[in-house]
Amino acid sequence: MDNKHNTNRGSDSAMLKAAAEAAAGAHYIAVMTGAGVSAESGIPTFREAQTGLWAKYDPVMLASYEGFMQDPENVWRWYDMRRQKVREARPNPGHNAFASWEQEWRRRGRTFQLVTQNIDDLHGLAGSSDVIELHGNIWMVRSVDTPHSKAFRLDDCPLSEIPPRGKDEELLRPHVVWFGEMLDEKNLIEAFRAAAECDVMIVAGTSSLVYPAAAIPIMAKREGAIVIEVNPEDTSLSAEADYSLRGTSGELLPAMYEHAKSVAD
Ligand code: OAD
Repeated sequence: MDNKHNTNRGSDSAMLKAAAEAAAGAHYIAVMTGAGVSAESGIPTFREAQTGLWAKYDPVMLASYEGFMQDPENVWRWYDMRRQKVREARPNPGHNAFASWEQEWRRRGRTFQLVTQNIDDLHGLAGSSDVIELHGNIWMVRSVDTPHSKAFRLDDCPLSEIPPRGKDEELLRPHVVWFGEMLDEKNLIEAFRAAAECDVMIVAGTSSLVYPAAAIPIMAKREGAIVIEVNPEDTSLSAEADYSLRGTSGELLPAMYEHAKSVAD
């Protein structure tokens, strides 16, 4: 494997500029984001030891079909709490940088594809127009009883009825991917296609531990893309990334975008 840039780990500005210059030359940029990009909007991540959601709550009870069927009210109370938190949240400079980058790249006739594991819709709110949401969307719901039932948006927040029901009184569930569930096949195919076709993949705010999402940047790397990671911590992707920038997405992404824009031909 080509790890020639892999000594580029850290937080100094020369490294950030080098990564930005690599991105500036790309005709196709793909992005993979995780919970860390929303941390600066006040939304907790999953795996931080003290503050992460999975440190405080039992994922099996709150994020699995079995847990839901055992106690739908309990699961919906948790989602109602998260929906309220998301409703109050605003996109941060990291989300905004990706939205501007998409616009700028399209203006130049280039391609920019964002893939996210987040369900909070903050990339959309920031103005990103083409987002592959691998794990679903917290505002969408579907019937739990009917396989392949069509998802629809439920904006009621806080919920007036817990658990919420559809027009025929059917039990509704959040349209998100729970443990043990398959991701939407079409989304997954599109995300892997982006990984195979891009010249640069930026991976921001994810521990890169959850599959299949974590396989997408690895695939990009194997297909010859330059992989740029943005994360305050070392992750399981760091050793494979060409540039592993240490810092927050709210700080580093706007700086990287501005530099890439200024040097792009
Ligand atoms: P994690 O909680 O596993 O990881 C969050 C990552 O963000 C960590 O690597 C942090 O170091 C990093 N981070 C924290 N603050 C940051 C900041 N300000 N800027 C940039 N990075 C920061 O979250 P994910 O990797 O997104 O799945 O988790 C993946 C999936 O696991 C989630 O989509 C969810 C969860 O179970 C489902 O619900 C299906």
